[in-house]
Amino acid sequence: MVRKVTIKDVAALAQTSVTTVSLILNNKGDRFSAATIARVKAARERLQYEPDYFAQNMINKETKTIAVLVPDINNPFFSQFIQGVEEIAYQFDFIPLIYSAGVHNQKVDHYLKELVRRNVDGFILAVPHLQKTTLDSYLQKRQIPFILLDQSDKQHVGDEITVADTQGGELAARYLIEQGHHKVGIVLPQQRAWNIEQRSIGYQAAMLRAQLPVADDWQITTPLTKLGGYQVAQQVIDSGVTAVFAVNDELAIGLIRGLCELRVRVPEDISVIGYDNIDWCEYITPKLTTIKQPIFELGQEATRLLLNRIADPTIAPQQKVLSIELVERESVQVIHH
Ligand code: RIB
Repeated sequence: MVRKVTIKDVAALAQTSVTTVSLILNNKGDRFSAATIARVKAARERLQYEPDYFAQNMINKETKTIAVLVPDINNPFFSQFIQGVEEIAYQFDFIPLIYSAGVHNQKVDHYLKELVRRNVDGFILAVPHLQKTTLDSYLQKRQIPFILLDQSDKQHVGDEITVADTQGGELAARYLIEQGHHKVGIVLPQQRAWNIEQRSIGYQAAMLRAQLPVADDWQITTPLTKLGGYQVAQQVIDSGVTAVFAVNDELAIGLIRGLCELRVRVPEDISVIGYDNIDWCEYITPKLTTIKQPIFELGQEATRLLLNRIADPTIAPQQKVLSIELVERESVQVIHH
C-alpha cells in the first residue's frame, strides 16, 4: 500500500519544523524568510503533498461549507431554488449541503445540532415556524451566520429575504376578478407559513376591494402538496366557485388532476391559477397560469447575502424584497356576464 505523504515528510525535506510548514501552507507564514517559504513550497511540490482538509479547517476556522434547510427537496420549487444557491456557492468556492428538514420541521433540530458540530460556516433556512429560541440556542449564541427566507417567519433578527407575497396573492385574485369571476375560492394549507399567509391576505384584500364576498366554503384547506390539491377537487366543485387561487403550483397541479378525473374541465368549468411558476406549469394540460416568483434568483440572492455575512459579520442587517409577476397561460377562462 502506498503511504500517504504527511506534513512531517514535507518538514523533513524542507529541513524545518511541522509548525513552520503548517503556518506557511496556511498563508500565515509572513514572519519566515523568503528562503524558508520557498523551501517549504518546493518540498510540498516535490512530494505532491495535499493538506488534510479537516486539519486545515481547524487552523483556518472555516470549512467553506454552507447548509441549506428546505422543507422538501422533492418540490420543484426547492430544486430550482437550490440551483440558484449552487451557482453562487460555486463561484465563491463554497460547498452547499442540502437537507429536506420535513414539511413539519421534523428534522430541523437534528440538522442544526449536527451541522453546527461539523462547523459549517453559515445556514440558509427556508423552513417554517422556526422558534426564536431554536435560532438563538443553535446559531445566534455561537455567532453563526444565517439567513431566513421563504417559509421562515419574518423575525427581524438579522438577514432576511422575502418575496412580495401579499401583492402576489392580490394579483392572483384581481386577475381572476378581471376575467369576470365573482365566486373566487382559495386553496391553502391549514397551518400556514408567514409567506403563504401573506398570499391569503392579498386574496382577501382583492375580494374586498372588488366588493365580493368570500364564503367560508370557498376557503379550502389541505396540505401544501400535489396530493393535497388532488384530494380537495370534489370540495372545490361542491363550493360552487368558478375560479380558484391555489397558493402554490403543486397544489394547483394536483387539483387540476383531481378535477379532470371528476370530469370537470379546466378552464371551461372551473379556472385555476397557481403560484411559483415551477417548470411543470408549461407541461401540464392546460398550461398553468400562475404568479411567478423569482425562484432561481431567490437562491442566488440568499447565498450572496449569506456569504457577505460570513465574510464580514459586522455589516448591517441585510433585508431584501423580490418582486412577483403574472404569467398568463391557459388555465383561466374569461366569463362574460
Ligand atoms: O411549494 C413551494 C412553495 O412553498 C412556494 O410557494 C414557496 O414560496 C414556499 O412557500
